[in-house]
Amino acid sequence: MSKKLLLKDAHVEGIRYFETYRKQGGYGAAEKALKMTAEEILEEVKASGLRGRGGAGFPTGMKWSFLAKPEGVPRHLVVNADESEPGTFKDRYLMEFLPHLLIEGMLISSFVLGSNVSYIYIRGEYSWIPDILEEAIEEAKAAGFLGKNILGTGFDCEIYVQRGGGAYICGEETALLESLEGKRGNPRLKPPFPAVKGLWERPTVVNNVESIAAIVPIIDITGAEYAKIGVGRSTGTKLISACGNINKPGVYEIDMTITVEEFIYSDEYCGGIPNGKKLKACIPGGSSVPIVPANLLLKTVNGEPRYMNYESLADGGFATGTMMGSGGFIVLDEDQCIVEHTMTLARFYNHESCGQCTPCREGTGWMYKILKKIEKGEGKMEDIDLLWDIQRKIEGNTICPLGDAAAWPVAAAIRHFRDEFEWHIKNPELSQTQNYGLANY
Ligand code: NAI
Ligand code: SF4
Repeated sequence: MSKKLLLKDAHVEGIRYFETYRKQGGYGAAEKALKMTAEEILEEVKASGLRGRGGAGFPTGMKWSFLAKPEGVPRHLVVNADESEPGTFKDRYLMEFLPHLLIEGMLISSFVLGSNVSYIYIRGEYSWIPDILEEAIEEAKAAGFLGKNILGTGFDCEIYVQRGGGAYICGEETALLESLEGKRGNPRLKPPFPAVKGLWERPTVVNNVESIAAIVPIIDITGAEYAKIGVGRSTGTKLISACGNINKPGVYEIDMTITVEEFIYSDEYCGGIPNGKKLKACIPGGSSVPIVPANLLLKTVNGEPRYMNYESLADGGFATGTMMGSGGFIVLDEDQCIVEHTMTLARFYNHESCGQCTPCREGTGWMYKILKKIEKGEGKMEDIDLLWDIQRKIEGNTICPLGDAAAWPVAAAIRHFRDEFEWHIKNPELSQTQNYGLANY
């Protein structure tokens, strides 16, 4: 079922501008929140069950409650708008069409966290969006929703937009903070977490764009009502950016009770696969999460339908599971070559590795080279086991999750499509000209 909290006004003409946003009830949640105490708002966020929408799904209320508050040390909210995960473009949509929703969410969140100076760190490739955000910030300031003594509460808040330089790694929260400080975006070892030592060693909360935007409806309808939407620990609504072999690519807001099948085939969402082709596989949460073949995508290992939520996609941690991740939903039809697809991802992670840890720096390069060889029809059977071995040596042995993100797609591709790798090796003459084909498995 479609339930709109974030995108309910997305198609109202002029919603990008303060006047229209305000007419639609915008900044009502901020007015309500600023009459509450920070503790009361935090309780609402905890009650909502909101989980971080950037990919990790960490409970937002819990993250906020971890924020250290040493006397006399400024604290910061940093919004992670470095949305670079392949297949993910839902934050771009929010910022482009609903910038005031983000600004309002930031105002409420900054008030709770005691951040007088908050930042939006946005990926360099979103070159046209900082102007939209900066215009919205100016409008909010002119209307008294940012700046000094907001709504007479004595609370001051400024928001600055910082453009990234186009490195995927700067979406990792500690690399982002390094970059925001003007340094090369190398991830830091955690702990300490940013909540204790973040921007300029000050306590910092780093939250995704969608997580912060969700604070507005949580305050509007209350945390308890928000928690009633969805199922289990997958509360509220989630934005999904759908792409690949589907009839209707785009950004959809779902309430996490729909099945994967409904999401792919219903006209309300992806509208099915073009030209009547069959579904081969899907990566439901951005390129870093494991690929799942069609048969396991439409049902869990217990034969239950697979739902579009955190728990069902993970399938209880079985090897058939994947993750909700960032909600970048990539659909592959029967014509797609899994080996080529995995090679493309391996090239991406190799290119984006910052090079600090050996398993990631060297391992991503080796995985790309071996996959390229297999894809060209020059592979040997033992290359498959070598690939498996390399990804095992990367996973869990690196400073930041980019290493895992590079290893998982390779592991899942071998686990579910090993015969397709073997077909490339056994049929070098066909390897580049023909597809392995659905009929073969
Ligand atoms: P994480 O699980 O390490 O951390 C999640 C959040 O919880 C972080 O903000 C961390 O600081 C906080 N946290 C965890 N334990 C804590 C503690 N004990 N005390 C205080 N704070 C604590 O995951 P991470 O590295 O933030 O995100 C990884 C995910 O990001 C991946 O699973 C992937 O899906 C996603 N991703 C999203 C991208 C996008 O463009 N949206 C790009 C690349 C990855
Ligand atoms: Fe850099 Fe890769 Fe290590 Fe992350 S895992 S710190 S990207 S080398």
